[in-house]
Amino acid sequence: MDKNEVLIEAKNLVKRYDDFTAVAGINFQVRKGESFGFLGPNGAGKSTTMRIIAATLTRTSGEMTILGKDPEKFGPEIKAHLGVVPQADNLDQALTVEENLYIYGRYFGLSKKFIKPKIEELLDFAQLADKRTVKVDALSGGMKRRLTIA
Ligand SMILES: Nc1ncnc2c1ncn2[C@@H]1O[C@H](COP(=O)(O)OP(=O)(O)O)[C@@H](O)[C@H]1O
Ligand SMILES: [Mg+2]
Repeated sequence: MDKNEVLIEAKNLVKRYDDFTAVAGINFQVRKGESFGFLGPNGAGKSTTMRIIAATLTRTSGEMTILGKDPEKFGPEIKAHLGVVPQADNLDQALTVEENLYIYGRYFGLSKKFIKPKIEELLDFAQLADKRTVKVDALSGGMKRRLTIA
């Protein structure tokens, strides 16, 4: 994959809720390896744009391309490639760190054989190897965030 490859692109993206315009024709590109942020005051249309990217909300007009595909036509395929880290984490508080990784792997349809070594890799990546048997509700906020990313 080319490092200049455009993974997410919006052209004249518009979202109206009835006659209220929440997103008024925005243009942006996100390339491979790039960190990209939406900054703006409350009500600027950030969450609306993110929902369109995540294929959970349809646009009113304009073009949207995620991994080369239109989210309105390829929602499930696009969702399968997106990792979302919500503000309030969606980890299972009653399970341990490694159990959460296992359960989420199974949600995504990964085999047990694939998940086992992957958990080791991700515990290392998230610097949570020493917390593997700790329940999520005993983790710090930053640790929970790292586990969600993993
Ligand atoms: N489902 C909806 N129906 C009507 N208006 C909405 C809806 N969702 C968001 N809005 C309006 O669209 C505007 C943008 O909202 P939002 O995208 O949540 O902004 P941000 O995330 O930047 O704070 C706000 O004025 C909000 O009230
Ligand atoms: Mg928001």
